Amino acid sequence: MEIIITPNPETAGRLAAGYLASLVKRNSRAVLGLATGSTPLPVYRELVRLHKEDGLDFSQATSFNLDEYVGLAADHPASYHAFMQENLFSQVNFQPGHNHLPDGQATDIPAHCEAYEDAIRQAGGIDVQILGIGTDGHIGFNEPISSLASRTRIKTLTAQTRQDNARFFSSPEDVPQHVITMGIGTIMDARSIVLLASGEGKAEAIAAMVEGPVTANVPASVLQMHPVVKVIIDEAAAGQLRRREYYRHVFEHKPEWQRWA
Ligand code: PGA
Repeated sequence: MEIIITPNPETAGRLAAGYLASLVKRNSRAVLGLATGSTPLPVYRELVRLHKEDGLDFSQATSFNLDEYVGLAADHPASYHAFMQENLFSQVNFQPGHNHLPDGQATDIPAHCEAYEDAIRQAGGIDVQILGIGTDGHIGFNEPISSLASRTRIKTLTAQTRQDNARFFSSPEDVPQHVITMGIGTIMDARSIVLLASGEGKAEAIAAMVEGPVTANVPASVLQMHPVVKVIIDEAAAGQLRRREYYRHVFEHKPEWQRWA
């Protein structure tokens, strides 16, 4: 894992966006794994800026999102379809049909999940997967004790996650109980991973992920087994890392050729 501690979430977002942009420039047909929630917003803001001001071209790129709420229509304001449309897709130039999210209204959910996995494979696999982390250590919506080998499937949210996400709904009871999420095995197949976190509320989950044991109790800890992971966090989210001065030292002394932005 590479741990990158930044002064604020905006800097973290710019770094992550720079990494995605360099990938899309090298390979115009890049396959991007995207995430929702508050954390990736600075990444999308920067990608939109790079598209508008520097001509970053998404016309050949494809995207797959991590997850969606079961039961929400694509045009429901709290759906992840709506989130992605508003914050990225409507503002850059992906081709119609190149942006994939699980369908929260699928009638045959297992068949839909299998088809989602097939679509990722047919696209050639995900080049870079953006992740946030839940306060309970989830990635995607893989809640604690998710199988570390899991594929895209239906999951039941923890009470903590429903409470964390209540801010996007008109009332806490409206947060769906179920979601469709890429599995941990699906996420681990991505060729590279960028996990972002900011704020004190994420400090415990980040410390458990980076410095704790690999355990299904903290699904994000499985990333210790992935060869290309960048963890980009602000000072507050880094607050409980025992070796944070070492991580800072490593990043500051990286040779220029190893930097991507
Ligand atoms: P957040 O969600 O970015 O809204 O904090 C992160 C997550 O649940 O993965």
